[in-house]
Parts: sequence; C-alpha cells; structure tokens
Amino acid sequence: MLVRELTFRGFRNLHPGHWQPDTGVNILYGENGQGKTNLLEACWLFTGGRSFRGARDSEMVTFGQEQVNLKLDFFAGGRDQQAEINIRTRRQVSLNGVALPSAARLAGVFRGVVFSPAHLSLIKDGPEGRRHFVDSAYCQLKPAYVGALTEFQKALAQRNAFLKKIKEQGCASRDEEELLSLWDHTLAAAAARLTIARSQYILHLQPLAADIYNGLSGGREQLSLSWESPVYTQDATPADVARNWEQQLQAARHADKSAGFTTVGPHREDLSLCFGDKPVRVYGSQGQQRSAVLALKLAEASLLQRVTEEPPVAFLDDVMSELDVSRQDYILNHIDGWQVFITCCEPSSALRMQAGKVFEIKQGVLKE
Ligand SMILES: Nc1ncnc2c1ncn2[C@@H]1O[C@H](COP(=O)(O)OP(=O)(O)O)[C@@H](O)[C@H]1O
Ligand SMILES: [Mg+2]
Repeated sequence: MLVRELTFRGFRNLHPGHWQPDTGVNILYGENGQGKTNLLEACWLFTGGRSFRGARDSEMVTFGQEQVNLKLDFFAGGRDQQAEINIRTRRQVSLNGVALPSAARLAGVFRGVVFSPAHLSLIKDGPEGRRHFVDSAYCQLKPAYVGALTEFQKALAQRNAFLKKIKEQGCASRDEEELLSLWDHTLAAAAARLTIARSQYILHLQPLAADIYNGLSGGREQLSLSWESPVYTQDATPADVARNWEQQLQAARHADKSAGFTTVGPHREDLSLCFGDKPVRVYGSQGQQRSAVLALKLAEASLLQRVTEEPPVAFLDDVMSELDVSRQDYILNHIDGWQVFITCCEPSSALRMQAGKVFEIKQGVLKE
C-alpha cells in the first residue's frame, strides 16, 4: 500500500497543492497549529473511515470556502489506483473514475493505521470508542462488514422508533406486540453478525497485542483482550448467537417499552483490556495505558498486513515525541519497510529515523 500523490483544495488550513511522499519514512515537521495533522487527516479519509479526530465533514472545509476536493493516487492490490473525495453538503466519492454510494466503500481499498495521542481515549473513555475501533479495523479487513453494520443500525433505528411510539401511546396492542416480535427476529440476525465478527476479530488480535505489549514493556505484566458480549461463546454457531440475541431482546421487552428504546444488543457490547484480571483503565499507570493503546494499534496493523499480505500505510501523529527511544525503535522496527508518515515539531528527530523525505509545514504551506 503506497500513497503516490495527494492533491488537496479547500481542506482546513492547507493551501491548495500536491504532495508526493517517499515510499518509505516521511517526516512532517512544523510548529503547533501549522497543518501537520490536517494533512494526515486528509489522507486518512481515503481509508473510508470518519476523521480520526472525530470531526464532522463540514468542519473540514476551509473557513469561508464551500467545498473540499481531495484526490489520492495510490498503489494497492498490485496496481495504481485513484480515488477522489469531494465534500460539499455531503461527501461524493469515486474510485478509479466510478462513483461510489458512500465513502465507507473505500474501506479495504486503501488501508491505513493511525496512531495518535488522542487514542488514549480508547482506554479512558466509554465503550463507544472501543466498539468503533473494532468495527473500523474489521471493515478494513472485511469490507462486506460495512453492510452488516448498516443493516444493524437500520434495524435498531426501526425497532427504536417503534418502541418510542409504544411508549408515547402508553401500551401496545396485540398487533403491535406481534410486530415487535418480528423486529426482534430481524434485529437479532443483524446483531449476531456484529457480535461474531467483533468476537473473532479480538480472538485473533489478542495474541498479537499480548506479544507486542510484552516487547514494549519488557514483560512485566500480561495484556489480555476480550470481547464482552452476553451472547457469544467460542463454540456457538451463528444461529445460536442470533437465537441468544432474540431471547435477550424478548427478556428486555418490558424494560424496552418503558424506556422507549432498545436496552440490550451489540450497541452495548465492550472491549475489555486487562492486566491479568485487572482493568487497564483502573489499574494501569499513564505509561502502561499508553503502551496498551500502542500494542492494540500495532496489533491491528500486524493483522491487517498478515491477512491482506500488503502493509497498510502507517500514520504516526505526534506519538514519537511522547515515547522513549526504545519504544520508538520498537515501532519503527515493527513497521520496517512500510510507508510511514510521522509528524513532529522538531526536524532533528527526523535524523534518527532515517527518513526518506522530510517536509516542513508552515501556515498550511508544504515545503520539501
Ligand atoms: N476548517 C478549517 N479552515 C481553516 N483552518 C482550519 C480549519 N480547521 C482547522 N483549521 C486550522 O488548522 C490549524 C491546525 O492544524 P493542525 O493540522 O491540527 O496543526 P498541527 O500542525 O499542530 O498538527 C489551526 O490553526 C486551525 O485553526
Ligand atoms: Mg497535530
């Protein structure tokens, strides 16, 4: 996977231009607020995900302008390809000249992994970010999973709308109870696809993450990951998982009707990160938490490379300066031979990293 050229216009503070990175390590340096993260963010959008800063599309349009135009020439799957993303009121996306119905369809076409200090929120914040991490990592591995996610969201929204109506009415008629059972069935089938994908993804990620954490931390404690779902066991078939969800939904029906929404389901699952049986969030020091996130991300990258047999592009936004030299080296060795983008404030750190190319960004203007 290689970025050949990024062309940008109307993206945040970046002056319109082209960027041709090296096929190896690229260093982007500049003072705070100059546009380093913006440039990575623009590239990252081509992985089909949301902005890694969680920004809305409208926030990415340069102040006072009407639209964003991004074009990425990249090498993937053994050939040169081109994708375009235009943001006006909504995103318009095309791949090799063919319009796509949504940006999510780029998932699995252009693959990348991003490391950012903001990812500490994966440990510190609530389960939504962890579900999003697993879902988007899995989308890049199995692009068809995007469809499963959409289907689940649709079924959930419809069941919720129905529950809300029942709550407002005060009670449900017999017809409505029957209809609710149909919704339970549809939602359970969609839910099972998510639960199985997430659980199996984490099963594959677990040994890699544990191994990497061991390497990063010198082996003092053991990192373990597991997907927390009330319905999944390793020997369960997809039909079992769907049946279990249906039972859970039926058991929660009374509560759901009075809440006016669905209180059980994959939208309540979580990724657990522990040292032994102790949650990293509660017992990990700042440094241990940082290493745990790094291990999670490096494991994601390893799995992506292993399954697709093509290294993803690595975006390291502001992370190197926070790490000691041995951890920096661990990362650089791990992704040796990949195309890497590293942002930092100090150009001198570039010397250690044997950069292919070094770029400076000043007030949104890029110079090699
Ligand atoms: N939509 C936008 N239009 C113009 N400038 C923006 C927009 N969004 C953010 N910025 C500017 O981008 C700069 C931050 O760029 P960023 O890439 O985060 O900096 P850094 O080099 O520190 O990574 C800030 O000066 C901010 O005002
Ligand atoms: Mg930044």
